[in-house]
Amino acid sequence: MNNLSDIQITRTTQSRLAKTDFDNLVFGETFSDHMFAADYMDGEWKNFQILPYSEINISPSISALHYGQCFFEGLKAYRHIDGKVAVFRTDKNAERFNKSAERLCMPQLPVDIFINSITALVDIDWNWVPSAANHSLYIRPFVFATDPFLGVTPSATYRYMVLAGPTGPYFSKLLKVKIETQYTLAAEGGIGYAKAAGNYGGAMLPARKAAKEGFDQLIWTDAKTHHYIEEMGAANIMFMIDGKLITPSIEGNTILKGITRDSVLTLARGWGVPVEERRVSVNEIIAGIENSTLSDAFGTGTAFTITCIGSLAYNGTEYFLNNPDSGKFSDRVLNKLNQIRRGEAPDEYGWNHVLV
Ligand SMILES: Cc1ncc(COP(=O)(O)O)c(C=O)c1O
Repeated sequence: MNNLSDIQITRTTQSRLAKTDFDNLVFGETFSDHMFAADYMDGEWKNFQILPYSEINISPSISALHYGQCFFEGLKAYRHIDGKVAVFRTDKNAERFNKSAERLCMPQLPVDIFINSITALVDIDWNWVPSAANHSLYIRPFVFATDPFLGVTPSATYRYMVLAGPTGPYFSKLLKVKIETQYTLAAEGGIGYAKAAGNYGGAMLPARKAAKEGFDQLIWTDAKTHHYIEEMGAANIMFMIDGKLITPSIEGNTILKGITRDSVLTLARGWGVPVEERRVSVNEIIAGIENSTLSDAFGTGTAFTITCIGSLAYNGTEYFLNNPDSGKFSDRVLNKLNQIRRGEAPDEYGWNHVLV
């Protein structure tokens, strides 16, 4: 698929746009009028379609439902102040999409199909891209195995789909988080670095337990010792200690290579802020809070954007971030990212994929 003319388009006759309350959006609840679909069969992607958002027919024996051959991506389209629409860093999501596919023994999706499917869907649902600050059109591409076969083997057929839905800010308060020391999200050699659907299912029980204890999010620690910090819910995590931006390294392939993470590190390096990507121990963070050298702790993610942490609980003790410079760096970086995404600041790194 190289251009829009390869996509069969069926437009909705009953748009839900006018009935949508853009002032009260709940993440993941509202979908735009259309969706994109394509099939993988006989070793290639075909049947490119945009059709009205609707239920789909699937066999109850598809292997995605039984063995979890299923993964996804998450990215956003933003409305610029001049009215144009741009999708943020699609090329990076395409790259990660194919890393997930490889790890789950699923077919690669050519980057042009990934990017064109998204831009075609956003183009048709252009009016669904909100213009209010901190709002965007969340885009959810995903692939699932469709062989109706219960043998534990990679499927020969797959469905690729893209959904979209308007969304507002995810969290608007300081987070109260718990450092998880019992459950594990990912281990070396596992699938933590892939956006595998099963990773999120596996996180639900620990997250629910933490929520019952009054926490907003979990911070995952390493599987072997639980002494080193990995990531936070659906976000990467960063700390500002002694003027250095410190974040867990992606080298062990246990955490997701976040695109917001990369954007923040790129901006920080551009500003001359020292950046360290390395192992980060829980003890180092707690010491930084206790001796007030830690001035910022925040999550970075497409859905989360930049979300600051107010307190961290570890083994039953809650540590409050109370450095007078708290939030200075995260505020600066969030403002800059927002300005780039809304076309208010120069896009120095070429991150905006502007629709024409
Ligand atoms: C587990 C996990 N870590 C990190 C991230 C942040 O990645 P990104 O900045 O690409 O959204 C996400 C969000 O997609 C996630 O689900």
